Amino acid sequence: MRKKIVAGNWKMNMNLQEGIALAKELNESLKAEKPNCDVVICTPFIHLASIAQFLDQNIIGLGAENCADKEKGAYTGEVSAAMVKSTGAQYVIIGHSERREYYKETPEILKEKVLLAQANGLKVIFCIGESLEEREAGKQNEVVKAELEGSLFNLSKEDFEKVVIAYEPIWAIGTGKTATADQAEEIHAYIRSVIAEKYGEETADGTSILYGGSCKASNAPELFAKKDIDGGLIGGASLKCADFKGIIDAFN
Ligand code: PGA
Repeated sequence: MRKKIVAGNWKMNMNLQEGIALAKELNESLKAEKPNCDVVICTPFIHLASIAQFLDQNIIGLGAENCADKEKGAYTGEVSAAMVKSTGAQYVIIGHSERREYYKETPEILKEKVLLAQANGLKVIFCIGESLEEREAGKQNEVVKAELEGSLFNLSKEDFEKVVIAYEPIWAIGTGKTATADQAEEIHAYIRSVIAEKYGEETADGTSILYGGSCKASNAPELFAKKDIDGGLIGGASLKCADFKGIIDAFN
């Protein structure tokens, strides 16, 4: 059985004190009532070391939202995968559409990031998804397939099996427009079939594929009930304990 996962992506929100307060609240809430899925919070780099000290990582995994595409050295302002790992974090989001779009991260760069993350023992949450234009042109399948091929399909089967995929249609991120559960299921099933072609049915069956894009407590149950949707990557609704917990509870 593949893992069900609800992961938060805080993005560039909350200062250190606010972030610690939210992580503490969530930690207490999930310790009191154990979730029926894996829960992960991905936070800005500056929060990681502080949150790692008190977070019960048997219940809530901790991750970064990015890491460098270089191992170490003279890259002013960058944070390496080894540095992320040294904070106590276990996960890293790679390939988010905001990184691809605003910071011009190419498939080649993302491929390097994935390799370095894995070499340093981090679990990768790899994001793929089409723009509105691409969806309207009916190119969504082509786009997600190319994203998988461009940055992940160089991995051995064993290493690919450690990756979690997040399908996030760009037109649904932070816009309040969610893909319908049927739309999401259709493309999740397609993504799984592409993985099966490359790595075989067993690997495809074992790969967790999360949905992201305006996911909230009200639509999570319908999305997560679909056979190929294994949870969510949550932006806006991960910034308040009650909202995030409401999504986690979709698995109850
Ligand atoms: P959203 O963001 O939930 O705010 O739409 C999702 C994401 O970008 O991971």
